[in-house]
Amino acid sequence: MNQPAGKVGDPVAAIDTPALVIDFDAMQRNLARMANYAREHGMRLRPHAKMHKCATIAKLQIDAGAVGVCVQKTSEAEALAAGGVADIFISNEVIATAKLERVAALAGRVELAIAVDSAIGLDRLAAALKAAGTMAGVFVEIDVGQGRCGVAPTSAGALAHQVVSHGLRFAGLQAYHGRAQHLRGASEREAAVHHAVALARAAQASITSAGIACPLVTGAGTGTFSFEAASGVYGELQAGSYLFMDRDYADNEAAANAPRFEHALFVKSEVMSRGTSHAVVDAGHKAHAIDSGLPRVWGRDLEFTNGGDEHGILRPRVDASPALGDTVWLVPGHCDPTVNLYEHYIVVRGGLERGVVHAIWNIDARGCVT
Ligand SMILES: Cc1ncc(COP(=O)(O)O)c(C=O)c1O
Repeated sequence: MNQPAGKVGDPVAAIDTPALVIDFDAMQRNLARMANYAREHGMRLRPHAKMHKCATIAKLQIDAGAVGVCVQKTSEAEALAAGGVADIFISNEVIATAKLERVAALAGRVELAIAVDSAIGLDRLAAALKAAGTMAGVFVEIDVGQGRCGVAPTSAGALAHQVVSHGLRFAGLQAYHGRAQHLRGASEREAAVHHAVALARAAQASITSAGIACPLVTGAGTGTFSFEAASGVYGELQAGSYLFMDRDYADNEAAANAPRFEHALFVKSEVMSRGTSHAVVDAGHKAHAIDSGLPRVWGRDLEFTNGGDEHGILRPRVDASPALGDTVWLVPGHCDPTVNLYEHYIVVRGGLERGVVHAIWNIDARGCVT
């Protein structure tokens, strides 16, 4: 276990680099904006905690009105449950018998739901729950355009029927459209969600004609949630990244009726070397994920180019090159895998210039990929 890069009460300048820093004030504004949006639009909010992996943050979201959180992995669910999160939806399929035994055990400790998209997965889940003597809500996942997990909408009724036949609680439809989230144009994202809504309606019809009520359709991410909220079909929003807003999401054209979110997650880096026309910071791609592109330099007009595992190269565009020892704040390209690189958040209040370390939060589910 690494020592945190700062301690409570330290000025921002004293935080070691590279460090994963939350601007607490910005995060709280994002958190409140989404909570208010869901409330005002009559939607349940179940933010995706795969993004932050932190029980403290999940509990702040629940305190602000979220019904619980989503996770993708059994071990993420276990880590957040151990941190005191009481209502968890594994919005993903689990197929291994040994993992399903853990899922069934967890269902005895927290309010748990899980997605299924196969008869085999459902049979194994039912057997594990029966052996453990526990119960979980079961969502049937449908493929609404991503071409990832999920059954065809017309098959949803048959699978929902099997859920009920196993004596399990049919919780509704999981209908997340991942590929829509980063379509840059707002109208492109809206069109993708319209398609998803039509498929969700078809799945609802298939369930109703199997004689089963469909209590909820859940889905949506930071790029599209305002379209799902307007659909009249979705009842629950799963957005996660709105809380931190990475560079990739900031590059989307904003949707007209969606609230705006601020960058709240940064990598603090320091200039460790200078050439004649460039500067080098101590944060390479072991300090921030680059699957969605490189980070943006915050507050200075400098271009970040990839310097490898431990280095980032800055080239001046308008602003002059920073000096040796200068702090440079980076907005990660993609928050989820960036978070997974760190053990702690250094939580700063009072801004990145003159703020103070307010808290150190464990990234409880860091590395929880099973
Ligand atoms: C099933 C599911 N729901 C919701 C989300 C939340 O998306 P975002 O963090 O982009 O808001 C994701 C992200 O990948 C997801 O896989």
